[in-house]
Amino acid sequence: MSRAADLRLRDALDAAAAGVPRGPLAASVDRLIGRYREGGAAATPILAGATDVLAYALYRMPATLAACSAMFRQSAFRLPGIATVVDLGGGTGAAAWAARETWPAARITVLDQVAEALQLGRQLRADESGTVDFVRWRAGAAVPAADLVTVSYVLSELSAPDQEVLLAAALAAAGRAVAVIEPGTPSGHQRVLQARRVLLDAGWQVIAPCPHQDACPVRPPDWCHFSARVERSATHRQLKRGELGHEDEKFSYVVAVPDGPPTGDARILRHPLKRKGLVELQLCRPDGTASRDVVTKRQGAAYKEARDVRWGDTWSDG
Ligand SMILES: C[S@@+](CC[C@H](N)C(=O)[O-])C[C@H]1O[C@@H](n2cnc3c(N)ncnc32)[C@H](O)[C@@H]1O
Repeated sequence: MSRAADLRLRDALDAAAAGVPRGPLAASVDRLIGRYREGGAAATPILAGATDVLAYALYRMPATLAACSAMFRQSAFRLPGIATVVDLGGGTGAAAWAARETWPAARITVLDQVAEALQLGRQLRADESGTVDFVRWRAGAAVPAADLVTVSYVLSELSAPDQEVLLAAALAAAGRAVAVIEPGTPSGHQRVLQARRVLLDAGWQVIAPCPHQDACPVRPPDWCHFSARVERSATHRQLKRGELGHEDEKFSYVVAVPDGPPTGDARILRHPLKRKGLVELQLCRPDGTASRDVVTKRQGAAYKEARDVRWGDTWSDG
């Protein structure tokens, strides 16, 4: 069996960073973290050259791969046999790595405005199997048709009208699904809610994470998000000056399809609280409400199942 994608990506990133002075990379990481925290649409590309692109790939790609893999895990059972994927604003291709693991036979195209990002994306996949094309593209230009169109951590760089234009392009190009993922912050969730509105207004149906098409019942100060564990490499720890061997990437997302029945299962909105003899689940339910469910040992099979579920999984509510 081949090594897991996160380990292969880590090796490819280490190879790309070999011999590159750490000082400028660390300075780029600091600048990019600050810029992304600040938010707001970008008049010129935020990734300004090869050092920024490598810095971004080193500190963000493992987390983005983990988040996109989790998003696909939580929705792919509704999307068997995806044969073509287009990733808008795909940068160095983190979402493409996740899509390749989920649909090994899919032909994947990464579109982005930054030539150096596409070049690094190609280099990172040099030893990987399966086709991933990296193509220069600027939002507003034509998008090739694909079964699945992904928009991963892109919306925050665009103005609100440009976000809508990008989503309209995604909808026009996608035959079977559109997936949008953003940081799992209150503002990231707000952008996902806007995207969800655009998808629903186009007559599409949300299949994940929401088990319904109604207004989101998770209201401020809370926000709907999920979490994926990322193992940090030595380079990653060095560049982010982190001590821990891992970090938890928080993400918000929405996956929609042109038609098809809703799953009928609730979504688990928090880490299940497991105590002796009971599991407490915070659920978003098919009727559009969010509330707590307590599953006790007396419920036999349901309790056994509840002991194994994770934040982000579906839960049969019936
Ligand atoms: C935060 S990065 C995310 C990259 C990648 N999607 C990922 O998840 O790792 C945002 C990406 O969107 C791209 N982008 C932003 N505005 C764009 C535009 N107007 N046209 C094309 N790409 C754009 C940037 O070049 C950058 O690669």
